[in-house]
Amino acid sequence: MTKSKHMTKTRKDLASLSDVTRAELEAWFDLALKLKTELKAGKTHPLLAGKNLAMIFQKSSTRTRVSFEIAMRQLGGGGLYLSGNDMQLGRGETIADTAQVLSRYCDGIMARVFAHSDITTLAKYATVPVINGLSDYSHPCQAVADYLTVLEHKKRLKGLTLAYVGDGNNVAHSLLFGGAKLGVSVTIVCPQGYEPQKSVVDQCVEDGKATGSRILVTSDTAAVKGADVIYTDVWASMGQEGEHAERVRNFKDYQINAGLMAKTGKKDTLFMHCLPAHRGEEVTDEVVDSPNSVVFDEAENRLHAQKAILVSLMGR
Ligand code: CP
Ligand code: NVA
Repeated sequence: MTKSKHMTKTRKDLASLSDVTRAELEAWFDLALKLKTELKAGKTHPLLAGKNLAMIFQKSSTRTRVSFEIAMRQLGGGGLYLSGNDMQLGRGETIADTAQVLSRYCDGIMARVFAHSDITTLAKYATVPVINGLSDYSHPCQAVADYLTVLEHKKRLKGLTLAYVGDGNNVAHSLLFGGAKLGVSVTIVCPQGYEPQKSVVDQCVEDGKATGSRILVTSDTAAVKGADVIYTDVWASMGQEGEHAERVRNFKDYQINAGLMAKTGKKDTLFMHCLPAHRGEEVTDEVVDSPNSVVFDEAENRLHAQKAILVSLMGR
């Protein structure tokens, strides 16, 4: 593949979608779809030949770990799994020193952390690109893969409505940022006290004015009416295990089941979930295994979307 506009370096790091432009998102979608189609036709893409990505995990992962490692391998490079606990980070070495050391060995750093400030500190001190593989604040790679999945299924993004029913968490934040940039209206339906951060909502309301995206936060599940996508995530995120029982009680009316899907009034509403799903809690088997569910397409698209992001950040 020759270098195209899709591979133009537009940023050093991907910490959050808050400062990503619509043009960057669309370039990632284009490149991801091209790489995906060509891969399925047997074409190889050694666009990051000889390059290595350090992958720091302070939390568990299936999709992020495997998709980033396979992405680097398919691009001709390598991914190095680093457990936060096994690193000197776990014994008090600073994030700043870690960033500078890894920058001497690797061509990029992907990190899954608790505090979002760990991502911004890594980005500040690393001389190589830093990619957020989930923080308590945001999960940008997930939202890029998710909107790519919506685009594939609905053939457009602008003018659609995504209703996120559940906790106003990291995934909700990234869907809000992405939707506002892309002209997708985002309705967050959550119990009182579990809303997304006000600063995120305020920015998205502003960003949405330019793209036609309407942002709504409500506790009323009737607000899913007309939604093109129903999205949910676990009720207790990683690090909130101690609140699990209380959250199950507080979220019980927000389960995605056949009754809630019917409230959209549409037959072709997509069901989405970043996974892992806690079946029987935030979603029933009936919905997650239904023909409307595209959860495994989302999981697959983590690979293709991240290849586009890796090439645009780490490519020559
Ligand atoms: N969706 C997602 O990030 O999954 P993992 O926690 O398995 O990486
Ligand atoms: N909100 C979830 C997403 C997991 C991919 C968590 O942070 O645990």
